[in-house]
Amino acid sequence: MPTTAPKHTQTLAALGVTAADQVRTLFAELRAHFDAEAAKVTDEDSWKALRDAWLGRKSGVLTLVTDNWLKPATPELKRVVGASLNELRPHVDIQLEAHAAVAVSAEVVSAKDRVDLSLPGVIRPIGSHHLIRQVFQEIEDIFFSIGFSVVEGPEIETPYYNFEALNIPEFHPVRDDMDTFYLELPRGVPGPLLLRTHTSPVQIHTMEKRQPPVRVIVPGKVYRRDNPDATHSFMFHQIEGLAVDSDITFCDFTGTIDYFVKQFFGEGVKTRFRPSYFPFTEPSVEFDASCIFCGGSGTANTGGTCSKCKGAGWIELFGAGMVDPAVYGFVNYDPKKVSGFAFGIGIDRLAIIKYGIDDIQVFFQNDVRFLKQFP
Ligand code: FA5
Repeated sequence: MPTTAPKHTQTLAALGVTAADQVRTLFAELRAHFDAEAAKVTDEDSWKALRDAWLGRKSGVLTLVTDNWLKPATPELKRVVGASLNELRPHVDIQLEAHAAVAVSAEVVSAKDRVDLSLPGVIRPIGSHHLIRQVFQEIEDIFFSIGFSVVEGPEIETPYYNFEALNIPEFHPVRDDMDTFYLELPRGVPGPLLLRTHTSPVQIHTMEKRQPPVRVIVPGKVYRRDNPDATHSFMFHQIEGLAVDSDITFCDFTGTIDYFVKQFFGEGVKTRFRPSYFPFTEPSVEFDASCIFCGGSGTANTGGTCSKCKGAGWIELFGAGMVDPAVYGFVNYDPKKVSGFAFGIGIDRLAIIKYGIDDIQVFFQNDVRFLKQFP
């Protein structure tokens, strides 16, 4: 006796179907049922539910029709059931595919509907390079233009690279000025190790690795046990320069520095050098630039003494010199065949001169009101 269970879950015999016309009617009903269900698809979820209900491998409608109507059908009905099923299956496939597009576009439309275009957008502040990074870049560009390349070295050094190979033996008085932070090392780790006091150790690393000609600049952080004030910090920045070749003269050296200073501060700026002392250069010099604030006159625009150069007309820039032949001995260069020059620029001090800043500490305070002045 027929039950209220869906017809495709019952056999034809249980449904009382014995003639081909009855089979065709059954399939027509099933197809109408599918079309009605398909018409209700509004989004991706309802589309997936329809697909699973009709094509599901174990209990989808088409599987149950195969199992309950086709397989147990009498030989007389089998042909008409098979033919009807073969018509229904592609109809289901095609309709599902057509409704997939409807489902996706419905999703898009409803997502669009949810966007409230009247809301203000999120404005994210765009950062900029720190002034120290900008000055590094300016200096690097100038030296790139005359054939130098950039190398970097470790911030943690051995005393050998930071001092001895730079001709600063243990107990040399110059170490007192440069004494720094030594690391506390775990037991068994070979030491001592220290935070480098200058970028000069990278001169040694570079010459150990390369044969002349060498033309490099070395930007980086350095550390000293200095108390912070307007011109000192315990961590600051330097750019080392090193040029070594077979025939580099003192004129090449001063010409290169003069070119750099003019590019950095302006064509009208003059340079001069004064004798100085570094254990790793001989002769050693300090470079000065004519005061960029009073034009070298020593007198301020307002008439009084220029406060920046204190009336001298010159501002001290950085130390430099011809590479001491003793240093070549540490890197197996022949001092009779090569010559060169080196310099070490304090970036923070150069930046405060160029940009008229009166305290080096502002570089480390990260006050956005200061940083925003250098976009
Ligand atoms: C040196 O560090 C040498 N290595 C430079 C050098 C390299 C000379 C190659 C010759 C050849 P000095 O100790 O003078 O030199 O430091 C270099 C620059 O670092 C100074 O001119 C100054 O601008 C900057 N400087 C030194 N100490 C501090 C500090 N505590 N805070 C900020 N800047 C500093």
